[in-house]
Amino acid sequence: MANREMTNAFGGPWTEEKLKILELYLDFYTTALKNQPFKLLYIDAFAGSGAIQTDEEEAQQFISGSTRRAINISDKPFDKLIFIERNMNRYAALQNIRNEFPNRDIQIENADANDFLKNFKQDWKQWRGVLFLDPFATEVSWSTIETIGNFNALDLWILFPTQAIVRLLPTEQKPEEINSRWADRLDRIYGDESWRELYRINPQGDLFGSSGHQRERGVQGLIEVYKKKLELLFGSRFLRKSRRLTNSRNSPLFEFLFCVGNERGIGLASRAANHILDHL
Ligand SMILES: C[S@@+](CC[C@H](N)C(=O)[O-])C[C@H]1O[C@@H](n2cnc3c(N)ncnc32)[C@H](O)[C@@H]1O
Repeated sequence: MANREMTNAFGGPWTEEKLKILELYLDFYTTALKNQPFKLLYIDAFAGSGAIQTDEEEAQQFISGSTRRAINISDKPFDKLIFIERNMNRYAALQNIRNEFPNRDIQIENADANDFLKNFKQDWKQWRGVLFLDPFATEVSWSTIETIGNFNALDLWILFPTQAIVRLLPTEQKPEEINSRWADRLDRIYGDESWRELYRINPQGDLFGSSGHQRERGVQGLIEVYKKKLELLFGSRFLRKSRRLTNSRNSPLFEFLFCVGNERGIGLASRAANHILDHL
């Protein structure tokens, strides 16, 4: 029987929501590139185990995780899939999945996703693909986003950890009061100290023109700072529209963000991602 460490816990309906968005996009993507000369790559950088346990009591209740969904894209299957997972037990579960599909090219890496991607090389003249960043919280470094942006080849879906960052950035504190370990973590996520802008006092009101009570403004602001950074890096490859994933009390947990890999794909990929985000 699979234990907790070998699976991932089901967070709530938002877990299915993010996976459905990803799955619909993978389906669109592979079909759209079916007759193109590229080989298709899928990278799941925070891969999990392939199964998500939906019920703590009933250990046998699972839904498919992102890796299985990517393997099962069938109209035009991915030519290669790379799953990166730091946890040893989940990595072992991924090995079992690979053994289930002996005819597929599935590479499993027991590594830190940031380190692996930093050193990742591929012949981008031949390959295009999709990369999914689905961390638990604040594990994605900004330098990893830069690396991916510079590939100019992989469409990127990223879960920005709103709730985890709200906890690092209490609205009532001043930036100089944030403890240095938290500040380092924020610098690593944002790539610089741009998050400190959120605390600047502006007598004209909020930096981002939004209204509402302070907490909500804080949430919108910290996503906006990140979006602005993505926009600078990806230019028109960054999609402004995103999906807010919330818990049952409607508190924001993650912001689901999308960037197009290659300029030539902007029109089609953005329309598809927009459509999925509007209709799902
Ligand atoms: C939210 S879960 C991923 C769930 C998965 N996408 C799914 O649908 O089943 C995040 C996973 O990332 C792994 N992880 C955490 N930090 C990591 C890191 N730095 N590098 C690689 N994997 C990491 C965790 O062990 C966990 O399995």
